[in-house]
Amino acid sequence: MKTKVMEIDEKNPQIERVTEAAEYLAAGKLVAFPTETVYGIGANALSEEAAANIYKAKGRPSDNPLIVHLADWEQLPEYVTDISVQARQLAAAFWPGPLTMIFKKRENISGEITGGLDTVGIRIPIHPVARAILRACNLPVAAPSANISGKPSPTEFAHVLEDLDGRVDMIIKSGSAQVGLESTVIDMSGARPVILRPGGISKAMIEAVIGPVDMNRGQLADQEIPMAPGMKYRHYAPKGKIHLLPLADFDTTLRELKKQLTTAQQRGKKTALLVPDEYAREFPADICFDLGPEQALEEIARHLFDGLRFMDLNEIEDIFATSYPETGIGEAIMNRLKKAAGSVSKI
Ligand code: TXA
Ligand code: MG
Repeated sequence: MKTKVMEIDEKNPQIERVTEAAEYLAAGKLVAFPTETVYGIGANALSEEAAANIYKAKGRPSDNPLIVHLADWEQLPEYVTDISVQARQLAAAFWPGPLTMIFKKRENISGEITGGLDTVGIRIPIHPVARAILRACNLPVAAPSANISGKPSPTEFAHVLEDLDGRVDMIIKSGSAQVGLESTVIDMSGARPVILRPGGISKAMIEAVIGPVDMNRGQLADQEIPMAPGMKYRHYAPKGKIHLLPLADFDTTLRELKKQLTTAQQRGKKTALLVPDEYAREFPADICFDLGPEQALEEIARHLFDGLRFMDLNEIEDIFATSYPETGIGEAIMNRLKKAAGSVSKI
């Protein structure tokens, strides 16, 4: 398949280009587009065939449901039922934005998209290019992250091109994703809301609006049925081994990084650090991916997936990363790092 690359300016989306992308979607084609969280691969959610093509393009198991993207809140009742007061409050507070809510689906959303579940995840993104395209096509657009299954989600156009060139009909070239981690997923279809995936909208932000919610930690025992089907697949895993150091003060962490790095290098391993700049400046630049200032968690989040991809591009075998406080977006950063690492290392 020949992939068309089309650049759209996020400050001022060119109408004729937006229209062309919308026409591709309406014709059942696959279009990778930017959102504020990560880039997504979009397809018309009302076409089973288009949705099936997403699974092929990503190499994704078809029992892992897709999120459906809408332009406006008014479209929601066309596709879902039982919209609770709490869901309305969350929508008012965080939509458009990096929040996905799960509802009971209507018949027009096919089980092909929801992995056979009777619920569907809905998101209204705020990215100007995503919004313009969704408005122009006036369709619900199913869109998972635009990576090949098992790779980190793409936060830059270059990542999408690397994974999907020749696999989708169009890739929209735009700037890097603002949030850099996938949306917060909250299940609003049951008696009590449950966060299935932490993201840019933290538990505390949600609780400030609707009161206490549960958090599915994702550390599921084998016999448990995962609540977000995506959790059962290995995610965000670079080819090398990530050693995630436990949270500690600067001196302890620095000492440990130096010790572990030396040991790995003595074993002849190609080694690198995935760390905030306070640590990066203590080591040679060519073995560090600098995520940004330690206190600036938003910046760390924005650079994390680029850092994971950097490790693969450079065929790093041993990767040493530091932990972050699990508050605000730190929750989501640690969730992704733990998944990538498998667990936190012991000192
Ligand atoms: O930020 C995002 O959410 C990005 C952008 C493109 O919008 N999309 C994204 O989609 O990350 P995806 O498919 O890579 O991740 C969706 C996650 C998966 O873990 C999936 O299992 C879960 O949401 N999910 C989707 N529908 C669900 C449902 N009905 N019930 C439970 N979990 C669901
Ligand atoms: Mg994904």
